Amino acid sequence: MKGALLYEGKGKQLFASETEGELIQVFKDDATAFDGEKHDVIAGKGELNCAISTYFFERLHEAGVATHFVRREGPREMRVRRLDMIPVEVVVRNVAAGSICKRLGLEEGLELPRPLTELFYKSDELHDPMINAEHAEIFGWARAGEIAFMRETARKVNAVLRELLEPRGIRLIDFKLEFGRSAGGEILLGDEITPDGCRLWDAGSGRKLDKDVFRRDLGGLSEAYHEVAHRLGIALS
Ligand code: TMP
Ligand code: ASP
Repeated sequence: MKGALLYEGKGKQLFASETEGELIQVFKDDATAFDGEKHDVIAGKGELNCAISTYFFERLHEAGVATHFVRREGPREMRVRRLDMIPVEVVVRNVAAGSICKRLGLEEGLELPRPLTELFYKSDELHDPMINAEHAEIFGWARAGEIAFMRETARKVNAVLRELLEPRGIRLIDFKLEFGRSAGGEILLGDEITPDGCRLWDAGSGRKLDKDVFRRDLGGLSEAYHEVAHRLGIALS
């Protein structure tokens, strides 16, 4: 049962639930890019993202990664543990694309010799500036040990996701994770894992199957996300 709306972001809403320490996370149909400058509503996107995120959280749980996911409760709704979010985004890259290409003058598609983790301060206003672990520590966003744990967990998530995607002909180029602290102080993976926060390329053709389709007007976003769900064998209602 959903209670009061506690938080509304660009892609999701969080509602109170009848259980202390648990919230209902609702995936919206909104698509945004460039820190909200570009916006559209794409029918069915919320349900696709909820289904894909559920699938990944379940596989991560099986692999021993602690997440906020409790269970899916509706087409666009999942029950999650309530977290105090850490305002640091952890990005893992296997292949150069997006902001790292601009920042370092790299060609999109350059294969990295090993997965790279990067940290960003979560702030639309400041356009999510890149930071290092010392910034996080000095400004009190996360302790050094917490950052190390988040990075290590992100590398593990990368390995789990790649093992799921590669046999289905999808390359995991990069993705972003967010973490938070539970009431007991445990660090859990939060937020979502969807094609909104990943780059996924078809292994054969290089076709993009993620939010870059929307960012760069490359065609139907819903079709691309359907393709991801279909290849992973995720049933949609
Ligand atoms: P970037 O190339 O823009 O730094 O993004 C790297 C990956 O992380 C890409 O898959 C998109 C995702 N990401 C988000 O979803 N939200 C964010 O705020 C950031 C910084 C990255
Ligand atoms: N900054 C992120 C992006 O461009 C998220 C957003 O702006 O909604 O994907």
